[in-house]
Amino acid sequence: MKLIRERFAIEKPLKGIRISACLHVTTETANLVLTLKEGGANIVLCASNPLSTQDDVAAALVEDGIPTNAIKGEDEETYYRHINTALDNTPQLTVDDGADLVSTLHTKRSDSIKTVIGGTEETTTGVVRLRSLEKAGGLKYPVIAVNDAQTKYLFDNRYGTGQSTIDGITRATNILWAGKKVVICGYGWCGHGIALRAKGLGSQVLITEVEPTRALEAVMDGFQVMPLTEAAKVGDIFITIAGNKNVIDKAHLQLMKDGAILANSGHFNVEINIPALEGLAQSKRRIRPFVDEYTLDNNRHLYLLGEGRLINLAAAEGHPASVMDMSFANQALCLEYIVKNEERLEIKVYPVPEEIDKQVARLKLESMNIDIDTLTSEQEKYLSSWEEGT
Ligand SMILES: NC(=O)c1ccc[n+]([C@@H]2O[C@H](COP(=O)([O-])OP(=O)(O)OC[C@H]3O[C@@H](n4cnc5c(N)ncnc54)[C@H](O)[C@@H]3O)[C@@H](O)[C@H]2O)c1
Repeated sequence: MKLIRERFAIEKPLKGIRISACLHVTTETANLVLTLKEGGANIVLCASNPLSTQDDVAAALVEDGIPTNAIKGEDEETYYRHINTALDNTPQLTVDDGADLVSTLHTKRSDSIKTVIGGTEETTTGVVRLRSLEKAGGLKYPVIAVNDAQTKYLFDNRYGTGQSTIDGITRATNILWAGKKVVICGYGWCGHGIALRAKGLGSQVLITEVEPTRALEAVMDGFQVMPLTEAAKVGDIFITIAGNKNVIDKAHLQLMKDGAILANSGHFNVEINIPALEGLAQSKRRIRPFVDEYTLDNNRHLYLLGEGRLINLAAAEGHPASVMDMSFANQALCLEYIVKNEERLEIKVYPVPEEIDKQVARLKLESMNIDIDTLTSEQEKYLSSWEEGT
């Protein structure tokens, strides 16, 4: 990121470009936003989740001249008011994480859409929403799916979410992971990372999935795979990371043991059916920051963390900078790419151009002082020919 920032400071590829950005307001995001400003952009920032803002970072950004509209714990009305304030910037570019800003722009703020030349989307759930919008014929400008870059999902989703989800649950509860039965709902890239880290801490990991190949992969990675109705009866800690709704539903909640902990790390707070939990509960009390105890029938207690919002950002600090730098390098380079290629981009969801993905990998290696080999001309010829065999 530092290398990109130094280049942006000289070349100013975003000179005079207005950007509305909706991202988790963390120190890593601050670094991206300052890089874009260094590149000449006029940027307004708002939060992409009501509980993920680091208030000190928001305050520091305002001091640095970046209008930042975000307060940790803001209610839904304030959250959308902040998105609308960011859109008052009449953006030429949008940067989104979860597609709340883009969906507001396409629905309630379509007045501001005419000036937009393109946008980027950071996360799996946002890309899913944008592809649905594209399929329905409603997408109004080109968007690059940053999430789908290899230098994003293989590292941010896997190692970033893996480590920071465990971190968030640990900070919220101070539990011992060793010996616990940890049920992970969803074995995508984030699920891979969480499972790997929980296993490393000595937990017994159980995976639930709906997709057969991923379920099989989990089996061969050494995890127990079973339906959630079975896992619900034995799990000590449940983590949803499926990008789907009511993954843990009322029927599962009714099967859980006294003392079970529920956490979500997926983008939205819909993965655990919280209204059903509220309905089952006879009482509820907050026993620690980010820990709500629900008392159910038979004096059973279930513990919901971070109000079901992504626990790594609610109770911890999100991903470490040294993995977010790759995601945000993709963001910065894709925004530059959109400005340079404005004329020839069609209205659709694009993957990250391969040259950008490879450049981010190269820059990351360079920043780590790691050299790799290069193909010899003989090897290049061999790999591009069909004649040579045994
Ligand atoms: N907390 C964070 O910082 C963070 C970071 C990156 C992504 N995310 C979010 O995490 C979620 C998952 O992202 P991903 O990249 O791993 O997605 P992914 O698409 O790679 O994986 C999701 C997996 O969940 C499975 N799934 C769907 N419904 C299910 C169900 N009912 N039960 C069990 N499994 C189910 C899918 O088959 C898939 O294998 C998304 O919402 C994404 O936006 C969060």
